[in-house]
Amino acid sequence: MRIYKAKDYNDLSRKAANIISAQIIMKPDAVIGLATGASPIGTYKQLIEWYKKGDLDFSEIRTVNLDEYKGLSPEDEQSYAYYMHINLLDHVNILPENTNIPNGLEEDSEKECTRYDNVLHFLGGIDLQLLGIGGNGHIGFNEPGNNFGKETHCVTLTDNTIDANARFFPSREDVPKYAYTMGIKNIMQAKGILLIASGEAKAKALYESFFGPITPNVPGSILQLHNNVTVIADEAALSLILKEHEITQGGHIK
Ligand code: GLP
Repeated sequence: MRIYKAKDYNDLSRKAANIISAQIIMKPDAVIGLATGASPIGTYKQLIEWYKKGDLDFSEIRTVNLDEYKGLSPEDEQSYAYYMHINLLDHVNILPENTNIPNGLEEDSEKECTRYDNVLHFLGGIDLQLLGIGGNGHIGFNEPGNNFGKETHCVTLTDNTIDANARFFPSREDVPKYAYTMGIKNIMQAKGILLIASGEAKAKALYESFFGPITPNVPGSILQLHNNVTVIADEAALSLILKEHEITQGGHIK
């Protein structure tokens, strides 16, 4: 694992976009795993800027999103499908048929999860998975206590996650209670993982994920077992780690 210290959110976004760009340049038909939430917005903005300058080509890129609220249609402004279109997909030359997001409108959970796992298998695995992290250490929507061995499944969101995500909805009551998410097993099969975290609210989750015991109670902690993880975080998110460790310019931890 390497941890890169970013000066601020802009620096973090630029560094993350650089790593994704490198992947796209090295493998123009790469499968990129995408994330939602506030954290990746700057990264996506930067990718769009580089695309518009002619430095990036998404024409053969395939994407798979981590998760989607169950019950929301892609037209719903709170859905992750809507988010992806607004924040990235509509602004680059990616082919719609090459983008994949769980279908929030499918009521039959088993059917949707099997379909999504089949999509992931058909694509032959994820080359680079972008991840944010929840304040409680969740990745995708894999909540604490969730089984590490799962593939795509339907989760009941914890109160903590509903509280955290209520900022995007008119009221807390509007936050869906269920979501489809890739499982930890899918995420761990990605060839590379890029996790971004910004702000003090992520400090505990980041510390526990990378310096605590590996436990389903902190879903992000499983990433300690992945052999190609890059973390980019700002000083506030790294504050607890920096109390005990030094992080070198090259991303090594002392
Ligand atoms: C949501 C998403 C996660 C995301 C997390 C953190 O619950 N399902 O994939 O990483 O929130 O979001 P943010 O970046 O807004 O803090």
